[in-house]
Amino acid sequence: MVEQHKQEFSKRKLDMAERVLHRVLADVKPTPNEIKLLNAKSNELMGRLKEVAPKGVDILLVGSVARGTQIRGTSDIDIFLLFPKGMEERKMEEAGVRIAKQMIKKGGERYEIKYAEHPYVRMFLKGAAATADIVPAFRISNAEEMGSAVDRTQLHNQFVNTRLSQKQRNDVRLLKAFLDARNIYGAEAKIEGFSGYLCELLVYYYGSFVKVIEDLSSLRLPTVIDVLNKGSGGRRQNEMTERFNSDFVVIDPTDRNRNVAANVSQRSLAKAALAARSFIDNPSVNTFYTKGYKGEWASRMLKRLNSSLGVDTIVVSFVLPEMTEDILWQQLKRLKERMSHELQHNGFEQMLSLQGVSGTDAIIAFLLPNSEKRVSAVHGPSALMGRAAMEFMKSHSKSGVLLLDQDKILSMEKPRYSTPIEVLRSIISQNNIKFPSYISKRGTKLYVNRMPERYSRMLHEALEDNVIQQ
Ligand code: CTP
Ligand code: MG
Repeated sequence: MVEQHKQEFSKRKLDMAERVLHRVLADVKPTPNEIKLLNAKSNELMGRLKEVAPKGVDILLVGSVARGTQIRGTSDIDIFLLFPKGMEERKMEEAGVRIAKQMIKKGGERYEIKYAEHPYVRMFLKGAAATADIVPAFRISNAEEMGSAVDRTQLHNQFVNTRLSQKQRNDVRLLKAFLDARNIYGAEAKIEGFSGYLCELLVYYYGSFVKVIEDLSSLRLPTVIDVLNKGSGGRRQNEMTERFNSDFVVIDPTDRNRNVAANVSQRSLAKAALAARSFIDNPSVNTFYTKGYKGEWASRMLKRLNSSLGVDTIVVSFVLPEMTEDILWQQLKRLKERMSHELQHNGFEQMLSLQGVSGTDAIIAFLLPNSEKRVSAVHGPSALMGRAAMEFMKSHSKSGVLLLDQDKILSMEKPRYSTPIEVLRSIISQNNIKFPSYISKRGTKLYVNRMPERYSRMLHEALEDNVIQQ
């Protein structure tokens, strides 16, 4: 194991941090009135569900509202309908959605049926900007009994409710706010950050918000956190990173076969580590309030990159269909990686690639040097390779100037594409790379440095998400 240099708060900075956290908590903890209203609303919904649910179906409040780890003003109610094991999964799901719809009929709330890996009903509560998710699952008492992907949530509930102190629950709120300010709270594809349950586990494992921050500041990969066996992660590190195919593993204490941190990207870990270090150096309330679009900064940065370093910003815009954002985001990411590969393959090294989705608009952007390529070197085999060498020379004798580089044959020729724009244009107009299913070539446009306002806004937001805050 590498000896890690752990950064810790000095006594003076720790006092400062405690004062900051005290102030921030007053903002992020729901007011007693909000908690009262949430509880009343949850009870009302559970009562209404009880009226329509058949015998044998239990109704359970889960998620951050049930655990006292929710953040002020953003709390969404999560209610599970628990069916007996032994039912067919499809039947259970259908029954759950039916019960939820029946319950909603009485209140007349607006709702949507959502399909994650598993269907559930999201209702929009009247007179509040809040939602409640009604999720069908099987009733289980341990992970071995699991019958559907969401069943563990009830086990998470039990774990957090029996292990975390009130102070630790407030620390979870602080951690969520800290990460959210960096845009890395949430496990969805667009964020690839820390889920609520992961925040709860980290606070439990390290003991407090301050300890989590100290540890994040010196985070190195690979890291394996075995929540129930403190200090043992290191010993079985290789086995675990291999088993979960990830360099950052947090073993779910309710199910040893699950990595709770599976969706956390390395970029999110890097952002968390940087934020933790800067908070230890300079504990300030501002750390918690950095979010929000500041387009000015990104716009200036791009101009500077362009005028003093010759960096072009190429934007490809798309028109997307109505579809779950998670899916669109992942498809766009895949396309971005393919384009990026194609650019590199043709000799254009991109420095940074970005993406953005806003409703049915989407962009992929590349920052690269604005040079024109007039020659490319095609490296052939060794002249001592007989037939292969002859064939290479034959096929390149017209297109290039052939030379010997040591024993190898080198052909200098006019490149197929002399600018990155040409590469991208050919990707869009020809079939050399396949587009993912929900991304159409129709309506796709290319821009260099200047583009319509709505795209530059998306570009700026994406760039801001990569800022290193000093
Ligand atoms: N859950 C999970 N895996 C996910 C999403 C959710 O296991 N990818 C479970 C967790 O037990 C989580 C619960 O479902 O606590 C509710 O999910 P969600 O509302 O997304 O998270 P909360 O913990 O309620 O956090 P928040 O305050 O952001 O709502
Ligand atoms: Mg929730």
